[in-house]
Amino acid sequence: MLKLYVVVSLCVVAHAAQLQEVFRWKDLEFAWPSDRIKQEAIQSRNYISANNLPLGLARWRDKLFVTVPRWKAGVASSLNYISLNTTNRSPVVIPYPDLKANTLPKNGEKLEDNHIISTFRVHVDECDRLWVMDTGVDDILGEFNQYSKSALVVFDLNTNKLIRRYEFKATDQTENSFFANLIVDVQPSRCEDAFAYVPDLGGYGIVVYSWKNHESWRVKHNYFHFDPLKGDLTVGGVNFQWTDGVFGLALGRVRNNGYRTLYFHPLVSTNEFSVSTEVLRNQSLATSPSSFNLYKIEGNRGPATQASASSFDLVTEVVFLTQLQKDGIACWNVNKPLTPENFGVVAQDKEGLIFPNDLKIDADRNLWVLSDRMPVFLFHELNPNEYNYRIYRIRVDEAIWNTPCAN
Ligand SMILES: *[C@@H]1O[C@H](CO)[C@@H](O)[C@H](O)[C@H]1NC(C)=O
Ligand SMILES: *[C@@H]1O[C@H](CO)[C@@H](O)[C@H](O)[C@H]1NC(C)=O
Repeated sequence: MLKLYVVVSLCVVAHAAQLQEVFRWKDLEFAWPSDRIKQEAIQSRNYISANNLPLGLARWRDKLFVTVPRWKAGVASSLNYISLNTTNRSPVVIPYPDLKANTLPKNGEKLEDNHIISTFRVHVDECDRLWVMDTGVDDILGEFNQYSKSALVVFDLNTNKLIRRYEFKATDQTENSFFANLIVDVQPSRCEDAFAYVPDLGGYGIVVYSWKNHESWRVKHNYFHFDPLKGDLTVGGVNFQWTDGVFGLALGRVRNNGYRTLYFHPLVSTNEFSVSTEVLRNQSLATSPSSFNLYKIEGNRGPATQASASSFDLVTEVVFLTQLQKDGIACWNVNKPLTPENFGVVAQDKEGLIFPNDLKIDADRNLWVLSDRMPVFLFHELNPNEYNYRIYRIRVDEAIWNTPCAN
């Protein structure tokens, strides 16, 4: 009887899938052109190792992009990648497209168009383009130096050349704007017909950008605001209060009418909402109060399910979400009503998944997760003797196995 009980309880525990830890770091290491240049950067305090926190990720072929936003002074390079050829579990990150493009300008020095000051998240699209949301600000928590305007910066991944820099207009922003995410809506056969949707977590809006028309507009909705009852968070033993609005975006399949559903949530909320891209792409409709009722409430995920990033698997129609307060990853199959019962646990790890910050599904249907203990970094100090940053990978089908998200 006892034996049977042990077997049954093991099965229950084993239902959470095993993410494979691919990389981990105590402190991030950069690929410098030479040790002399690294030492000079340390001397001049242009490089302060402990201030380099990895945050966003995206995979394209044998590159895994990793962003390092300039929360504090001394970030070596904001846009970087890891070569997936490596067998090193704590590899160096390599500035992209190069170190110069990621170096802050000295007094009066002119910035090249391909420069990146500070980015939180990036998106690889179906047309081999890398889309970067550059906020242009160094030392966000300290001196807040605005080096350049908030801009979408797009690279051709086959040539590593800049193909567009689009600066946001004054009307795209408010004085509280904070652009830390983006998603791109495009079909491989129609690369020119691309739209980017950029959530504004501080200004409670979404900026829509049309690649073809070189034009952007700002969309407002009550559902982009934070839930005042969900802003008291505890992660990694640190308690803090946030007011972050719309943040996680995930795009569903293209329907017969050519449009998709955009699933979205404010970070400070446990609800999930949606709107058709038919609304967002139509500037007059999207910016008119008459679009209010075209937004939907998908449902509530349950207590303590605040999420940063989300990503949609086109084959199974499952959305994956980070679980900030649960040190985990969750899923929801959009063909089922969103309720706490239908909201599945994919993984939980009280050590390795403290603040799962970003997640992405790549072209081969691997789910990638980056965790980084960010609240400890922001409000206290990370312990340089511990593994603070980790990157995990799992096949999507394996991730949803034995969860309510499987069909
Ligand atoms: C991985 O290795 C291949 C073959 O040696 C090489 O062509 C490619 O550039 C490498 N990729 C990266 C990202 O370093
Ligand atoms: C935009 O929406 C308006 C109002 O619903 C509609 O009349 C118009 O045809 C739409 N435009 C496009 C290009 O779909």
